[in-house]
Amino acid sequence: MQASNKLITQHCLEDMCAALEAAGLYFGHGTDNAWDEACWLLETVLKRKGVSQLRLDSVLTVDHLQDVTKLLHARISSHKPLAYLLQEAWFCGLLFYVDERVLVPRSPLAELIRNQFEPLLTVAPTRILDLCTGGGCIGIACAMAFPDAAVVLSDISAQALEVTAINISKFKLAGRVSALKSDLFESVTDCFDLIVSNPPYVAVDEYENLPAEYHCEPELGLVTGKQGLEIPLLILQQAAKYLNPHGVLLLETGATWPALVAACPQVPFIWIEFECGGEGVCMLTKEQLVQYF
Ligand SMILES: C[S@@+](CC[C@H](N)C(=O)[O-])C[C@H]1O[C@@H](n2cnc3c(N)ncnc32)[C@H](O)[C@@H]1O
Repeated sequence: MQASNKLITQHCLEDMCAALEAAGLYFGHGTDNAWDEACWLLETVLKRKGVSQLRLDSVLTVDHLQDVTKLLHARISSHKPLAYLLQEAWFCGLLFYVDERVLVPRSPLAELIRNQFEPLLTVAPTRILDLCTGGGCIGIACAMAFPDAAVVLSDISAQALEVTAINISKFKLAGRVSALKSDLFESVTDCFDLIVSNPPYVAVDEYENLPAEYHCEPELGLVTGKQGLEIPLLILQQAAKYLNPHGVLLLETGATWPALVAACPQVPFIWIEFECGGEGVCMLTKEQLVQYF
């Protein structure tokens, strides 16, 4: 019996993987390959039917297979990221609620948060701002990593902040994590030890050529003017005022980082190297921001 269960589960995963691969999908919203996506899909279906863990000898019922097939067809026909179809995404080992009001979390900042920003920070931050928070993943993960910190999650989008609120409540953090509607720093009144930001940094012409999956995400979360530099530059110009004396800014600019370096040749950016993939995250101290921006 166990051997045949194993065969059915393995075949199911292999068939799903083959179908996902054949469909010309893009994998970059929570997974980077078809096999991981097949496992995520099947595991979530099983979990929602009360099976705690996907194992190769998990028993698959007709009911499970019907749900799996429905989701697989939806993924293939719509090109929607699986995260939207499941309304969940993993970030920094935490399972967030997501839907089309926010980007699917995937920032390499997760690796830094998991290591409590060592060796970049010497003292644990007690006040943290996640600017351009989307569904709140970066700031909430910071709040979990620093249990004594008060965290502000800010975004210009009222729709995104509805998702932020769901996640604040999901992780029971309302006591020390708050959401703020703000156009960059416009409504920010406090100073912080750490500002983290994964803002929009995609140029308009680059956006137009991105795979369909990206076009299911809010454009406001991806695109910004001046070849993807407008919002990153505004953050660099304004952040110092909102940092405590020893505060630092960690800013993600993804593949736009060479353009930022070219636009600011005088700035000694520190670009973080990641073991788990990702690029374009720089760190600047308050002093450097005052000096160079
Ligand atoms: C790249 S998404 C990042 C979301 C989240 N931090 C993450 O890593 O998944 C950028 C976010 O910036 C927000 N945004 C765009 N323009 C903004 C502005 N002028 N002020 C504040 N937030 C802005 C968007 O609504 C979006 O939620």
